[in-house]
Amino acid sequence: MELLEAIRKRKTTNGAFLKKPVSREHQHILVEAAARAPSHFNSQPWRFVLIDDAKIRTKIAKIAGSTMTQLMKEGRFFQRYRKYFRFDREEMERRRDGIFIDQLPGPLRPFAKQAFSDRGLKLMNQLRVPGMLGRDNKKLVEGSPLLLAALLTKEEYVPVDLSSFYCILSLGMAIEHIWLTCGELGMGIQFVSTPMEIPGAWDEIKSILKVPDSLELMAVYRLGYVPPAAKRPKIDWTSSQRKKLSQYVFRNTCSDTEADPQ
Ligand SMILES: Cc1cc2nc3c(=O)[nH]c(=O)nc-3n(C[C@H](O)[C@H](O)[C@H](O)COP(=O)(O)O)c2cc1C
Repeated sequence: MELLEAIRKRKTTNGAFLKKPVSREHQHILVEAAARAPSHFNSQPWRFVLIDDAKIRTKIAKIAGSTMTQLMKEGRFFQRYRKYFRFDREEMERRRDGIFIDQLPGPLRPFAKQAFSDRGLKLMNQLRVPGMLGRDNKKLVEGSPLLLAALLTKEEYVPVDLSSFYCILSLGMAIEHIWLTCGELGMGIQFVSTPMEIPGAWDEIKSILKVPDSLELMAVYRLGYVPPAAKRPKIDWTSSQRKKLSQYVFRNTCSDTEADPQ
């Protein structure tokens, strides 16, 4: 695959992966690609855990499920991330950012836009949506043949210091290498981030992965081979839209917006 094509095709996989185990060869290609990323003074502050043990994946899946249910039930997720959710195509075309919830079970569709109101939250709890999303999330994570934990060494990563920005930037670039290489290998990848939103849950994952004090657990991902005809989750979104050049690029100074190519 040409690089530009790989970049244009790169996307998050929201649906289930094939159960087929990820080959050791592909796992090593992914982390080799990560290590080719730039880092300040070539410090390579990243560390990765390749998780293909079924028991460990199930433990993490349970936490991913329960944290999703908790976040949805309490409405915190919606309050915190309301500004990113789009429910109509027109708004999505105009803004060209955020995530467009274009797949919802029939009974929920009439209430989509109210999902963020207190009344909407009450209704969602009555319709047991948090539980459904939690079960779906657990199933997705448990069904992923490979989980990947991304960590930073505290030798480099000092939160209050400039090095923390350098480390996070380097880790971000290493993870992007993994994301692009997934495309090349017929694989997909998605953040498993709901445990990050619940402090106790993140600590649980740290202990499951036996993370030493010398390392900081930064993120967890689920990976696998993408099925030819991927079935979309009951509640699903698209986020392939990107801003026009004139919406995010300037020419020479920030007072001159770049014109969109004709
Ligand atoms: C810091 C960060 C956190 C993210 N958290 C999640 C997440 O919790 N769940 C998810 O499905 N995608 C998550 N994503 C992926 C974004 O939603 C996705 O990259 C964006 O919507 C663009 O879609 P695309 O990756 O398909 O191009 C995250 C991305 C970043 C950089």
